[in-house]
Amino acid sequence: MTTVTACTNPNLALIKYWGKKSGYCDIPATPSLSIALGGLTTTTTIHEAVEDTIELDGRMVTDVKIENWLQKVRAEYSIPPIAIRSENDFPTASGLASSASGFSALTLCIDGLFSLRLDQQKLCWLARQGSVSAARSMYGGFVSLDPRTMETDCVQLQNFDHWDLRVVVAVCDTHTKVTSSTEGMARTVETSPFYSSWLSKTDQDYEDCKLAVAQKNFARLSEIAELNCFRMHALMLSSQPPLLYWNQNSLAAIGAIRDLQTDGVPVFLTSDAGPQIKAICMPESLAQVRTVLDGTVGVKRTIVAEIGRGPVVYSD
Ligand code: DP6
Repeated sequence: MTTVTACTNPNLALIKYWGKKSGYCDIPATPSLSIALGGLTTTTTIHEAVEDTIELDGRMVTDVKIENWLQKVRAEYSIPPIAIRSENDFPTASGLASSASGFSALTLCIDGLFSLRLDQQKLCWLARQGSVSAARSMYGGFVSLDPRTMETDCVQLQNFDHWDLRVVVAVCDTHTKVTSSTEGMARTVETSPFYSSWLSKTDQDYEDCKLAVAQKNFARLSEIAELNCFRMHALMLSSQPPLLYWNQNSLAAIGAIRDLQTDGVPVFLTSDAGPQIKAICMPESLAQVRTVLDGTVGVKRTIVAEIGRGPVVYSD
């Protein structure tokens, strides 16, 4: 086997992780729950090389996050230099969780090329050393990452075909974001006077969301996921200096989704550490939601995702 390729989906948190457990860089402070974004794909290929090289979206780059991650991997496993080629078919580093799909794909490539044969929890652990949310991209469907167990436990709660939800991503800006999630959440933990309130509320949001997903209760899921998203953005804004990830186009997209809700369309929104706004709806509302967002001034384009099936790995 000379090359291994892994295709993974980014994931979208319905209950957010924002803040690490004190003293750890790989354990979230609170449980999170995400869906795999099927139709958006990171494809990563690796092979042995004379030195480490990284090609991202067609450009040779120096990527400190990947280099640091490789160092951590090599502290555990004997891995020779590798050439990495990775491509996203969606905008990189703009709140669409490309680091999650990137590190999960890379983890699977390394496991495959060097026959590590790691079990699922160990794979999640390794992915988490690059980016905590990457552990959630090791599965398709509805995924939970819950630090309240002994080891941070990442599991698939429901398979992709449990509930046919659609996501319309309103792309509101395609530039690289200014403050990374890692940096942003560290600032929040250190400076926000509301961080302890966030910690005390998230466990319940997570439990409520888990139940709403199990029962396929769209109204309940809408309520909890929006609340949790707005709480996270309020928390970001309360950091010092404040973290404002939205721009005027994001607000226009939020307004358009609010109008749809007022008209009785079952849709809700969420957004991460970037300007993109994601509308979640049932398949029957997809055309209407997409048409409205496409027609919203400031929305550059829309991307539709469904619930993803999970990673695929193959070798040549
Ligand atoms: C807002 O997993 O990207 O998307 O662990 O520092 O790499 P690091 O952060 P990352 O943070 C994701 C934050 C979020 C919410 C979420 O996906 O849960």
